[in-house]
Amino acid sequence: MSKKHNELVQKQFTKTREAFSVYVVRDTPEVLEEKIRFMRPERGERTLDVACGPGTLALAVAPQVRFACGGDLTFAMLRQALEFQRERGIANAAFACCDADHLPYPDGTFDLVTCQCAFHHMQKPMTALIEMARVMKPEGRAVIIDALAPESDAKFELHNRIERLRDPSHAESLRLTTFLRMFDESGLEIAREALRRRERSFNRWMLRAGVNPGDRRYRETRELMEQSVKGDAAGFSPRVEGDDITIAHTEGMFLLHRKPSSAP
Ligand SMILES: C[S@@+](CC[C@H](N)C(=O)[O-])C[C@H]1O[C@@H](n2cnc3c(N)ncnc32)[C@H](O)[C@@H]1O
Repeated sequence: MSKKHNELVQKQFTKTREAFSVYVVRDTPEVLEEKIRFMRPERGERTLDVACGPGTLALAVAPQVRFACGGDLTFAMLRQALEFQRERGIANAAFACCDADHLPYPDGTFDLVTCQCAFHHMQKPMTALIEMARVMKPEGRAVIIDALAPESDAKFELHNRIERLRDPSHAESLRLTTFLRMFDESGLEIAREALRRRERSFNRWMLRAGVNPGDRRYRETRELMEQSVKGDAAGFSPRVEGDDITIAHTEGMFLLHRKPSSAP
């Protein structure tokens, strides 16, 4: 991944640490619980959450496994994860600074390797996926959770334009068909898949990216979002409601195994 893009990611998630982790968190406790159930964690397992942000998944899974690790590029996020860990008195978790392109672990270390809402920040998502598969045990599992972009070219372009305007560290939301091809090419197959429609407030979504209603970035993003209402031109299904807009992301959740032919 380019140094310049990594710096953009670090700048964005240093600026938004508090909003992202405390004030306008993305998932309700029920949604987080559903995601943990989807991963099927087991008592004796070692887990790794790649691009762990403030440690949400790693700390939620820790009480159900032997040891939970989290890695992220942004120090501010890792500091937040350590703070949450201390507050919650969780002893079996550890956090490290790392790039998803080069995970600092030997082959076959983890039973479960996860990555949530981060592939769309990566310039080389395929490299990250191959790294996740590398550090996974031969019989291990990977879980990828991310927002999916529309399949149509025109909607795909506008969708990602709006996402990048809101957050310059957004690289590209991927289509479902792209994820399926990447899984296949990295020697993984889907054991379980779920697509969820996640409705959210546009204003809160902007705040989570550190953008306030008075900001130029807010006005420009809102303008494009409103223009996309007709014909749902960007795939957000926007509905203007008073000062706010209700938007929706399609979130894909994939539980992956190594293909039998790819086991080392
Ligand atoms: C939208 S946040 C998601 C955080 C967390 N996974 C969650 O769901 O709450 C994206 C995170 O990915 C991290 N990130 C982006 N690119 C990365 C990379 N190449 N390697 C490691 N972390 C990365 C950012 O620092 C940020 O913390």
